Amino acid sequence: MPATDTLIRLDKTPDEAATPLMRVRDLTVEFRSGRKNWVTAVQNVSFDVAAGESVALVGESGSGKTVSSLAVMGLTGDTGGRISRGSVEFDGRDLVSAPPSDWRALRGTGMGMIFQQPIRSLNPAYTVGDQIAESVRRHLGLDRRAAMARAVEMLDMVQIPRAADRVKEYPHAFSGGMCQRVMIAMVMACNPRLLIADEPTTALDVTVQATILQLLRDLQEQTGVALLFVTHDLGVVAELCERVVVMYAGEVIEDGPVNDVFFAPHHPYTSGLLESIPRPGATGGRRLTAIPGRIPAAGEWPAGCHFHDRCGHAVAGLCDGTHPPLEPTTTGRAARCLRVADLDLRGVTA
Ligand SMILES: Nc1ncnc2c1ncn2[C@@H]1O[C@H](COP(=O)(O)OP(=O)(O)OP(=O)(O)O)[C@@H](O)[C@H]1O
Ligand code: SF4
Ligand SMILES: [Mg+2]
Repeated sequence: MPATDTLIRLDKTPDEAATPLMRVRDLTVEFRSGRKNWVTAVQNVSFDVAAGESVALVGESGSGKTVSSLAVMGLTGDTGGRISRGSVEFDGRDLVSAPPSDWRALRGTGMGMIFQQPIRSLNPAYTVGDQIAESVRRHLGLDRRAAMARAVEMLDMVQIPRAADRVKEYPHAFSGGMCQRVMIAMVMACNPRLLIADEPTTALDVTVQATILQLLRDLQEQTGVALLFVTHDLGVVAELCERVVVMYAGEVIEDGPVNDVFFAPHHPYTSGLLESIPRPGATGGRRLTAIPGRIPAAGEWPAGCHFHDRCGHAVAGLCDGTHPPLEPTTTGRAARCLRVADLDLRGVTA
């Protein structure tokens, strides 16, 4: 495993580049395998999230999106893993090397996370108002009355009708989409600067998905919160995000502005993902292609490029022997491919 392959951004002035809201570098997470061994689930993950920016984290199932998201929230220990290397800077301060209480304090006020199954994140034994109020009291130190007023204000903000009444109801009285709104209300109640959303709409039906995405857009506009949006839906990425970080087999393999990456990807895996997007309304056009083969699980990554056994551009003797670093390609972009200079890849142009 390479010791480090820190990404360097080229599109920002040195000052801006020095102070993103969150800067993740070489983040490596392992899980226990058997009694003595550890298996690496993500390695050398590096990306930035600027204040107010929306960044998508995409990749097939098992690529390492959730492991990376939980790690930047400081929740790796709760899942039985450990961060073995790397840093997660928030506002210029590394949290990996800070006391755990610092990270805990930032969860809520600095950054918050919502998940795929909102109902599982809510406690069925308490009203939604009590749960939002409790979070606000703990993080912001408001008294009971002010915290409950904040809960009503937040339910209203996430467009739950009759917020003052519904705040007294229990989670089972809310639909899946409404539960996700409650979770968003709970996280946003403490004014975080970064919202991490791990597939927040995957469990919802299509029309509800659209309303939750619109809500996230509105909240970003109103509050300026930055968004790290985890998804494997590239259509959503195009609608919601400015930058995209693509992961494959535990690594970041491409990073850049969404429009640029979608128009002309620099990594064959990104190109394959883009080729797989169904295009409603396209007539006589491109065939929907899926990338052949399967993503290797943690602990089963091949030598060389992790993608080489699925890559149509792989060169024997090169790609199966040399592990590519994540390197800057053009302004503001980076890719992890040994052939990046020779390839002219296909993006979404039609
Ligand atoms: N608690 C755990 N213990 C051991 N291995 C784990 C654990 N959590 C995740 N992994 C492994 O880490 C790798 C990355 O998993 P992760 O859940 O981050 O994928 P993902 O990109 O979020 O996928 P999905 O789209 O299905 O949510 C996988 O190989 C997975 O099996
Ligand atoms: S390094 Fe080789 S195998 Fe890997 S993506 Fe590039 S061309 Fe494909
Ligand atoms: Mg996941």
